[in-house]
Amino acid sequence: MLSGQGCADNVSGSMVGHSNEEAVIKEVIGNIYETNKMLLEIGDEVVTKLFKPSSGYKSRYRQEKEALLRMEQVDNVPRLIKSEDQKTTLFMSRLPGRSVTELSETNLSDLTNIVTQMLAAGVARHSMPVRDILVDEQGLLSLVDFERSTLRYQTWRPDWIIAKKVTQYHLSRLISQHQPQLLSSQQQRQLDNTNKVRAFLRIFKRMRTSYRQSRK
Ligand SMILES: Nc1ncnc2c1ncn2[C@@H]1O[C@H](COP(=O)(O)OP(=O)(O)O)[C@@H](O)[C@H]1O
Ligand SMILES: [Mg+2]
Repeated sequence: MLSGQGCADNVSGSMVGHSNEEAVIKEVIGNIYETNKMLLEIGDEVVTKLFKPSSGYKSRYRQEKEALLRMEQVDNVPRLIKSEDQKTTLFMSRLPGRSVTELSETNLSDLTNIVTQMLAAGVARHSMPVRDILVDEQGLLSLVDFERSTLRYQTWRPDWIIAKKVTQYHLSRLISQHQPQLLSSQQQRQLDNTNKVRAFLRIFKRMRTSYRQSRK
């Protein structure tokens, strides 16, 4: 197990961004991460995650709690130890390792394995930032942070079908950034198509913003 300070290195810089919802780290003291949205205490064995009152915090708390419950059988994700609904606080197992900037072929194959198990358990992540991927000195890879996930209720529901594709897109994107030779032709096709849609949406968003500003 790495030391607490080693883990503090996981979060560098002052922003832990989630697209538009940037979370500013207010304090990093020893093993405590404090942002405007959460307070995380990383103990030797237990991680305590308090969701602070802020937009959507109860729903993010419930998503992560339910996601962890569904993934009890999934390897290398945190185990839920205890939850305090009134205090929107989760207690989970601490996983070893620290965030890495590069992912090897083995790392990506391990990550693919976790993602396959995670989707089978009915949990689809909305993003897969590298800071949520931990690798220890022996090369053991783990995945944390499930507060932004879609849970499967029915396999045919459009929200699940889309969320699953979003997760697969983020996995393919990581593979293309770190080990592009591993991408299957199907993954490459999916990535190209999604990138085209994302580029179109970005242009559409910019046009909408400038239209709104011109009406002010
Ligand atoms: N169970 C855990 N075991 C070890 N480290 C963890 C665990 N949960 C979180 N961390 C570390 O704390 C960081 C922040 O936690 P996270 O749940 O991702 O918060 P945020 O929602 O702000 O991104 C993670 O990127 C990871 O480095
Ligand atoms: Mg995170």
